[in-house]
Amino acid sequence: MAIPEDVINEIKYRNDIEVTISQYVNLNRRGKNLVGLCPFHSEKTPSFTVYPESSSFYCFGCGVGGDVFTFTGLIENLDYIESVKLLAERSGVSLPQDGYDDSMQRLKNTVYDINRETARFFHSYLMSEKGKWALDYLLGRGLSLATIKHFGLGAAPDSWDALINHLKQKGFSEADMLTANVIGKSERGSFYDRFRKRVMFPVINIRGNVVAFSGRAMPGEDKQGGKYVNTSDTPVYKKSENLFGINFAKNHASERIILVEGNMDVISLHQAGFQNVVAPMGTAFTNEQVNLLARYTKEIVLMLDADAAGQKAVKRASQLLENTGLSVRVVVIPDGKDPDEYIKKNGAERFAALLEGAVSDIEYKLLMAAQDIDLNGDDGRLKYLAKAAEVIASDEDVMTRDIYIGRLSEKYGVSRTALTAKVEEIRRKHKKSRQRQEFSDIVRPNLTKGDINPERRRSLKGTAAEETLIAVLLQHPDFCEEAARLLPKEKMITSLNRRIYETILYTVEGGRALDISVFSEKLSPAELGYLVSLQNGDKAGKNAKTVLKDCIEVILEEDIILNSNNDSQTSLDDWAANLKNMIDKKSKGN
Ligand code: CTP
Ligand code: MN
Repeated sequence: MAIPEDVINEIKYRNDIEVTISQYVNLNRRGKNLVGLCPFHSEKTPSFTVYPESSSFYCFGCGVGGDVFTFTGLIENLDYIESVKLLAERSGVSLPQDGYDDSMQRLKNTVYDINRETARFFHSYLMSEKGKWALDYLLGRGLSLATIKHFGLGAAPDSWDALINHLKQKGFSEADMLTANVIGKSERGSFYDRFRKRVMFPVINIRGNVVAFSGRAMPGEDKQGGKYVNTSDTPVYKKSENLFGINFAKNHASERIILVEGNMDVISLHQAGFQNVVAPMGTAFTNEQVNLLARYTKEIVLMLDADAAGQKAVKRASQLLENTGLSVRVVVIPDGKDPDEYIKKNGAERFAALLEGAVSDIEYKLLMAAQDIDLNGDDGRLKYLAKAAEVIASDEDVMTRDIYIGRLSEKYGVSRTALTAKVEEIRRKHKKSRQRQEFSDIVRPNLTKGDINPERRRSLKGTAAEETLIAVLLQHPDFCEEAARLLPKEKMITSLNRRIYETILYTVEGGRALDISVFSEKLSPAELGYLVSLQNGDKAGKNAKTVLKDCIEVILEEDIILNSNNDSQTSLDDWAANLKNMIDKKSKGN
């Protein structure tokens, strides 16, 4: 049985969508609605829209949408029932006790139970006589017993069925163990322990549940299964949304969270007194992880290995973090060590100093740009300055750009004006390609133009001309003034294209850029998709101006034909005159 509708409505009523979403997203009023940067994908211009009137939200960038429950579920990583429960709790609505059947929730609870029991099993094995090999290894890596207990570390015995037998004894079924991904099933249908002869790291989520495991092979024994074996996604775990150490770090995040590469780095730093550390488990850093961190902290310090892979990871992470409002700094660890090795060799004080010296993202990129370039010769310097200008251009803050332009011009003896001009040129180029990108980023549903613009039946030729006109104007906003003069918006044949045309003219007149978000209030998602397809369709190329005028001519002609069927003679005369006038102008040249 589901939760009764009136209870759902009550919860919905008490959790105002605007108030609820504002707790996670910085919203600005735009007319009746509110807009902000989407928390579910990264973007520069706000396309995440909240509609208080209909208590709904929609992101025109990534296509997610729904009500206050959908939002809560997405952002808190809960399923629908769980988010109903959470919002009920928050607003003091009591749910009917045994009112509903929730098999998914029961399965999740079973998986949590299996994980907890598995963690216990691994931990007691580690602490037992038989687990001496693993305990020796961990102690040998400098971990104290207290740290080992704090993280609930364990060890998996060198056996194919020790865990299965243990869990069976505790009353769990093999099917559920398989769902928890602690065991595997062979092609022949037999079950086996997934983690064998490994040091085990339980992964614990923000609510303190064991959600997954990461098992490290003993040195020299990583042939079978690799150095690490990790839990795959289960009903309670998505590796792209979790971070090792977040259960501790969330309580020490007021200033910053440090992002490192490995579990061992997290544990080692923890032991040295740095509890605000997390690591993604063998995955690239994701948007979901960024969102998770953004809930607890204002600043991320990236502390990744100094090797090529680490640098690539820094690049990716700083791109993801760029649009979040989180500040980002980067620590480069000397001598190509990882944080674990560094702190063991140099101690906590030196590590803290390293943290203090964390450079801003832009400084880090400028440092990296200098790599492999000989800065002594003019050639090298020019090459470096070109790269540096790209780096500076990518920063959205005009003051920051100015500061670094100043520093570089002084350091390398180039004029400030020249460097500024270079940076601005790059920014103009980027802006153009970004706008194009934003339009085409939107996912296309499989609708035909006819589905979306049913009026196109009235005049296929005229509608096609309208579509080309729109495409040309999106590419050449500077043609708008002329278009507005030659083609009054009332003359657009289909009402959809009229709305689009109107919005284009209005936006450009107001001196604003033609971002997709400009249309988001006026067009449905499907209509937006249509617009995107126009934008990406035929390119008018060099003859854009001529094409524009031809389109206007066709639209006006079609308008006359359509209206002559049922309308008065006057408008026909008017438009014949107008048409003639236009053709005259055209023959005098563009
Ligand atoms: N990793 C993984 N699978 C691998 C290698 C690495 O999942 N085959 C993940 C693990 O989460 C690991 C992280 O990537 O913690 C970093 O890898 P690495 O630097 O090789 O491991 P460390 O954590 O540094 O472990 P150690 O210091 O014991 O070598
Ligand atoms: Mn390491």
